[in-house]
Amino acid sequence: LLHTRGKRDLAGKRILISAGGTREYLDPVRFIGNPSTGKMGIALATAAAHRGASVTLVCGCVEPTLLAALPKMKTISVTTASEMETALLSAFPDADWVVMSAAVADVKPATYSQEKLPKPSLPNPLPLEPVPDILAQLAQLKQPHQKLIGFAAQTGDIETPAREKLNRKKLDAIVANPIDRPDAGFGSNTNEAIILSARGDRVTIEPCSKLKLAHHLFDFLD
Ligand code: CTP
Ligand code: CA
Repeated sequence: LLHTRGKRDLAGKRILISAGGTREYLDPVRFIGNPSTGKMGIALATAAAHRGASVTLVCGCVEPTLLAALPKMKTISVTTASEMETALLSAFPDADWVVMSAAVADVKPATYSQEKLPKPSLPNPLPLEPVPDILAQLAQLKQPHQKLIGFAAQTGDIETPAREKLNRKKLDAIVANPIDRPDAGFGSNTNEAIILSARGDRVTIEPCSKLKLAHHLFDFLD
């Protein structure tokens, strides 16, 4: 409430938020994953709830301790990109805004073995198949009252690829954030960003807590 001074400007808004990473398993003990901890997504869910929104959180793999501090909200826990896709597609019709901060896999192993594979039997090279883009699918289903907000974690020039993703995925806005600075990106408690909208608005957010960045994003959206 520090950041909102008690304002409930998202009251009546239904916000669907994805957080954390996905894991694409090859067998019960090996997976393709990423370093997402869920801190940004959980900050978004917290900020939206404090501002009065009705929040649904689709939670991938996150640091378990973070969930204990969450305000009361509907939470759906998933592990794989496919489970995240199912959860988001089913919750999407009841959402006004979707904020997709999850780090979703781009590829998955082409096969899954129920039994643990002995080391010598591990496929090498490992056959991969593409993971469908969840946001791009939501964009196809989007109704006029709905808004899609993506994240783009980038190294180097963060803005050019983020703008390309905003256009390619037909999003309403995208949050470009660096992952190659000491105080931003995966696992950090702080972040910084450039937020771009399809309308052409652009705002730079200087390094701040992830909760503060979440509030800057909700200030930017309307
Ligand atoms: N995203 C998604 N489904 C995927 C992959 C990504 O919905 N299978 C979403 C992410 O949650 C994020 C946005 O798309 O909100 C951008 O993700 P990003 O990984 O930056 O973009 P990609 O299109 O996957 O491109 P690349 O990884 O090559 O940079
Ligand atoms: Ca990706």
